[in-house]
Amino acid sequence: MAYLDTVHDVYKKAAETPDVGLCCTTSPIWQLPNLNIPKIMLEMNYGCGSTVNPRDLVNQPNILYVGVGGGMEVLQFSYFSRKKAGVIGIDIVEEMLEVCDENLYFAEQQNDWFERDFVSLRKGTALDLPIEDGTIDVAAQNCLFNVFEEKELVTALEEMYRVLKPHGRLVLSDPICEQTMPESLKNDERLRALCLSGAIPLQQYLDLLTSVGFGTIEVRARRPYRILSPNHYSTNELIFIESVEVAAIKDPMPSDGPCIFTGRSAVYFGDEAYFDDGKGHTLFLNQPLSVCDKTASMLNGLGRKDIFVSESTFFYDGGGCC
Ligand SMILES: C[S@@+](CC[C@H](N)C(=O)[O-])C[C@H]1O[C@@H](n2cnc3c(N)ncnc32)[C@H](O)[C@@H]1O
Repeated sequence: MAYLDTVHDVYKKAAETPDVGLCCTTSPIWQLPNLNIPKIMLEMNYGCGSTVNPRDLVNQPNILYVGVGGGMEVLQFSYFSRKKAGVIGIDIVEEMLEVCDENLYFAEQQNDWFERDFVSLRKGTALDLPIEDGTIDVAAQNCLFNVFEEKELVTALEEMYRVLKPHGRLVLSDPICEQTMPESLKNDERLRALCLSGAIPLQQYLDLLTSVGFGTIEVRARRPYRILSPNHYSTNELIFIESVEVAAIKDPMPSDGPCIFTGRSAVYFGDEAYFDDGKGHTLFLNQPLSVCDKTASMLNGLGRKDIFVSESTFFYDGGGCC
């Protein structure tokens, strides 16, 4: 696992010298009433999307954030938990923890509602979390797990699953790539550490999440991220990388497989007031119902002429059939 040393070196440097272009996201930064994000945190936004979603963060949850970076999302999560050690931030790079700590002190000076002890920073690795089983409501990682090769990725996902309470949520933001990543890029440790060449196809990412036990998955956003082009990288073709925001919920695994929501809806437009499939899904006349991919396939399989099922938008935003 020598590549993990390269990851460590890359983020030690990124802690010592903020690198505005290190990761880059087209998702908007959450600006909330009375939330002032220090400039240094914005400059050290090394994420590739957002893992903060107010819908996940009701009732002052216990939050775990793995791979703290400059601390921007740690601060945003604290906005919702607002209690001592309500957010636990873990990082393997000592220098990153020091900078995050410093940035949180700046945040305390700029935000009346924020107290530094709302966040507990701990040294540790995603591969062996220093956290007790079943104690976390919301666990998050942004642009870290993609640097892992599959064996470590599975371990990291298993660790997140272990520490979550039943029905707890793992919120992730990571690059994905539907093309076969050339070996020359995949094996380039530095590119992998920079979140550019470890990206895997979305379906593989979702399969790994369900394989560790998450029974419900939500694909919440999917956006263009980077192009690896022959004039800049060792590749013969353009490689298109996207970033996704995904929530994996520690619901029991349904006997017929996981519920994966990718933004599909079903609409009944027949002659009755509603359509009931007898399996818990009721479609009221001309009212769209969010459905998981499994239910979408089942409804399509009925071959009815009075039910429309839309394609995946990959922007699922709540609601649903199961
Ligand atoms: C790409 S940065 C993302 C930082 C932050 N999540 C954000 O969105 O700005 C990856 C972070 O993960 C940390 N990291 C790298 N390897 C790690 C590991 N094995 N366990 C925990 N954190 C790790 C790095 O030090 C860095 O803070």
